Amino acid sequence: MKRKRRLAGLISGVLRVALRRRPKTFGVILAAGSGTRMGTDVPKQFLSLCGKPILVWSARAFLDCPDIDGIVIVTRRKDIAAVEGICRQYGLSGKPIKVVSGGDSRQRSAFLGVEATPKGCRFVAIHDAARCLVTPETVSAVVNEAYRRRAATAVYPIADTVKRIDARGRIRETLDRSELVAAATPQAFDRDFYIAVAAYAEKKGIAVTDDNALFEAVGQTVYTVDCGNGNFKITTQADLDRAEAILRARKIGKETEK
Ligand code: CTP
Ligand code: MG
Repeated sequence: MKRKRRLAGLISGVLRVALRRRPKTFGVILAAGSGTRMGTDVPKQFLSLCGKPILVWSARAFLDCPDIDGIVIVTRRKDIAAVEGICRQYGLSGKPIKVVSGGDSRQRSAFLGVEATPKGCRFVAIHDAARCLVTPETVSAVVNEAYRRRAATAVYPIADTVKRIDARGRIRETLDRSELVAAATPQAFDRDFYIAVAAYAEKKGIAVTDDNALFEAVGQTVYTVDCGNGNFKITTQADLDRAEAILRARKIGKETEK
């Protein structure tokens, strides 16, 4: 009886260790844009949101996610020292953080960020710094889908009825909303798979606005995870105001829970 119990304990311990083992996974936070549509002197990722730069909110969500082993922050070459300073100032620590230089396009910045992940990293979760309301739970959900499927992305349902129009602005078609989603980030991939697909796309001159499109371009399937519409991208001042209101409500929610 005693031996049986000991054996059962041993098996469950081994299983626990085995189950806890997951592929090394890094977040790649894209913060090398210039925020033209926001129209501020400072790129939007450095603007303050409830007292912290937008970039800090995004990076924090990744560092707080148990499935993430570290992050690479991609920024403009001239902002590298400033970003390193921001990491120190806002106490971003606990996991490895590397700050690297990005490129002229989001596509190039993502590639450079993934390339900068350390040896042994098997999965990457690419994220727009400007989607600063992302939660550790969303990161985890997308990353775990990528473990199963090799390529996965956050999406959210579209609330509006979407029309296709022609060059003169005339409606040509109403699209079937049940088949439409908006693509968000994180977008998580098997690292080697991503590098192979992205390098091929670059060689072929395929230009994309998100990383999923790279996989679509070469006929590979990306699986979706519905993360709700709270993970929107900060593009204009109105988005910033909306994000402030949401973060304040989250804080009040947490305080009333206590
Ligand atoms: N990004 C990047 N490198 C680029 C362009 C964009 O890392 N060369 C990042 C941005 O910093 C942002 C994310 O990709 O976090 C999504 O891009 P977008 O919202 O278009 O940001 P910007 O390009 O900075 O803004 P805009 O298009 O208004 O200039
Ligand atoms: Mg842009």
